[in-house]
Amino acid sequence: MLRRSHIRLRLPLFLHRTLTSTPTQPLPDGDLHPLKPRIPLTNKTFVVTGGARGIGYSIARAISELGGNVSVWDIAPSPVEDYHTLADEFGVKTMYIPTDVSDEGSLRNALDQTMGTFGKLDGCVTAAGTYLVQPFLEHTGEDLSRMLKVNTLGTFLTTQLVVSQLRAQNTPGSIVMIASIAAQTIIPGMYFSAYNASKAGVWMLGRALAYELGPHGIRVNTVSPGFTDTVMMAPLKQDPETLKKVESIPPLKRIGKRSDVAPAVTYLLGDGASYVTGVDLVVDGGLQHA
Ligand SMILES: NC(=O)c1ccc[n+]([C@@H]2O[C@H](COP(=O)([O-])OP(=O)(O)OC[C@H]3O[C@@H](n4cnc5c(N)ncnc54)[C@H](O)[C@@H]3O)[C@@H](O)[C@H]2O)c1
Repeated sequence: MLRRSHIRLRLPLFLHRTLTSTPTQPLPDGDLHPLKPRIPLTNKTFVVTGGARGIGYSIARAISELGGNVSVWDIAPSPVEDYHTLADEFGVKTMYIPTDVSDEGSLRNALDQTMGTFGKLDGCVTAAGTYLVQPFLEHTGEDLSRMLKVNTLGTFLTTQLVVSQLRAQNTPGSIVMIASIAAQTIIPGMYFSAYNASKAGVWMLGRALAYELGPHGIRVNTVSPGFTDTVMMAPLKQDPETLKKVESIPPLKRIGKRSDVAPAVTYLLGDGASYVTGVDLVVDGGLQHA
């Protein structure tokens, strides 16, 4: 029988040290940093578009919970009530600015107000979005235009403004775009072609900008939720057959919750992901491979 002492004798010294050191000990070259200080978002400030409700709100809440300041830009005149409690609950600063992400002037005003209050930015999450379920031949040009304007152009313009601010500050930053599983996956019998096209644009924008902005220390990633229980899901939930289908397709056998998505986003925003750019983090209960 092979005893431990035998194994030790056979291993080269450097390999023996690597395999037997406990994970909390720094490596001899000092390259192993503790994880806990890299999870909080303390002293960072992020813009969250579409944060008045739904997934965007859950992300704004999660950023606050991790100590970050948030400026929400959303077309709704006001956010869910709970948004106003975040500052006191977590000792952070929050702002709410009614903004149309498809309108450059409206975005410029939101950035000016945000900078007036916070003085610097560390990135953004683009969650503002709109959705339309209907067969291809029933779509009008106006339908496609609306999807592209809010989902794709809105993401493009918001990111462009935030990145211009990061470049002016000469600081690194993190951008997380909420794409969708619909950017890459077709669910048989469910039709949202204009939405598919608009989110595929967001997905590719994430890859392109990761490459272009990486040399400036600006990381760009996308998060692609699967079916997630928000107001956006309401049309699908109206039909019991569709609901059953949506719940049964993912290997994890349920619809996603907003709180399934937010941790993926805060991971990508934080310093723990400092070597992660150009990825798409899929949060879909395995739907993509079903
Ligand atoms: N719910 C899902 O199943 C699901 C799945 C994949 C991706 N997504 C994406 O997640 C994001 C959030 O969706 P949600 O499910 O929370 O939906 P939601 O409808 O609850 O939230 C969307 C938010 O975007 C805001 N918004 C819409 N148009 C805007 C505009 N022109 N300017 C600024 N804000 C605008 C709305 O006011 C709302 O607060 C969207 O980008 C959506 O495409 C959702």
